[in-house]
Amino acid sequence: MPDPIVVSELSKSYVNGSRSTVALDSFSFRGNRNMILSLLGRNGSGKTTFAKIATTQLMPDSGDVYLNGTSVIDEPEEIRATISLVPQEGRPFGHLTPREHVYYYQRMIGETREKASTITEMIIEELDIESFQNTQCVNLSGGQKQTTMLAMALSKDAETYFLDEPTIGLDVITRKRVWEVIERIRRERKMVILTTHYLDEASVLSDEICIVSHGRLVSQGTLNDLRSRLGHDTRIRFSTRVDEKIVSSMGTLVDDEKGQILLTESGNVEEVLKTVGYMNGRIEIGPVGLDDVFVSMVGEDIDE
Ligand SMILES: Nc1ncnc2c1ncn2[C@@H]1O[C@H](COP(=O)(O)OP(=O)(O)OP(=O)(O)O)[C@@H](O)[C@H]1O
Ligand SMILES: [Mg+2]
Repeated sequence: MPDPIVVSELSKSYVNGSRSTVALDSFSFRGNRNMILSLLGRNGSGKTTFAKIATTQLMPDSGDVYLNGTSVIDEPEEIRATISLVPQEGRPFGHLTPREHVYYYQRMIGETREKASTITEMIIEELDIESFQNTQCVNLSGGQKQTTMLAMALSKDAETYFLDEPTIGLDVITRKRVWEVIERIRRERKMVILTTHYLDEASVLSDEICIVSHGRLVSQGTLNDLRSRLGHDTRIRFSTRVDEKIVSSMGTLVDDEKGQILLTESGNVEEVLKTVGYMNGRIEIGPVGLDDVFVSMVGEDIDE
């Protein structure tokens, strides 16, 4: 059996007049089983460009993507029949309702009236959108429009799902509903490629994570793999500034929106606290998380 997804040396530059922007630079990764695989990277790192190429909407300059052994370049029609996509910044049709979106989409991909109705019913219930299912999309809120796009894409029985920031703008309750649908899809042994800037979402859902920077793969693995590659198991957050010289021998000090974080080993905690002083404002101690992995792996971008 071929791997569910193989991304091979994908390169893409956008050329506008004399200006050329490299979006993907020999980008490669592989998903060797059906799972939820998340792509994490800073704005502009190439995630959407990859999703567009993998879903046959954009041609790369070189390289290819194979879904279950089929090339997206050579067999685009075959690929389109087996994928489902939630595009970043997708918009529903204003004059159609969420129910009509799902139903007509199901009819368009070839389901019978009866099956289309059953599937529409099911996804509306699963996402809990009964209250606005019959409202024209032009009269819906931003989050309700986004949920409509999700209902449509998640209603398809695909082999590979590309979800490009699917839960952007959704309230926490709706977001959890969407997570449940994504997890149901994983239980059905489908491949889900997810991009998100919500690291809590990536931590909860991902079986594997690819960190992308400047169109290249930086690291791939489970959350625990990535954590162990960081070389630190403990984070100590200081609410007030600490002298870098004092703590630099005990770990790596990084800036954080609420102060500073020292990434260190659990065995160093006591010494750090003694050195910095227990009275140094508020101190929080915990295990390293995906946000620490992310900042340390793409952190050189921040310094640029
Ligand atoms: N149509 C376009 N024309 C020119 N440059 C583009 C175009 N689309 C994207 N780019 C550039 O390509 C790079 C990658 O963009 P892309 O949209 O793939 O990033 P992304 O990782 O999805 O970012 P975000 O997290 O903000 O969605 C960026 O430098 C961006 O400016
Ligand atoms: Mg994007």
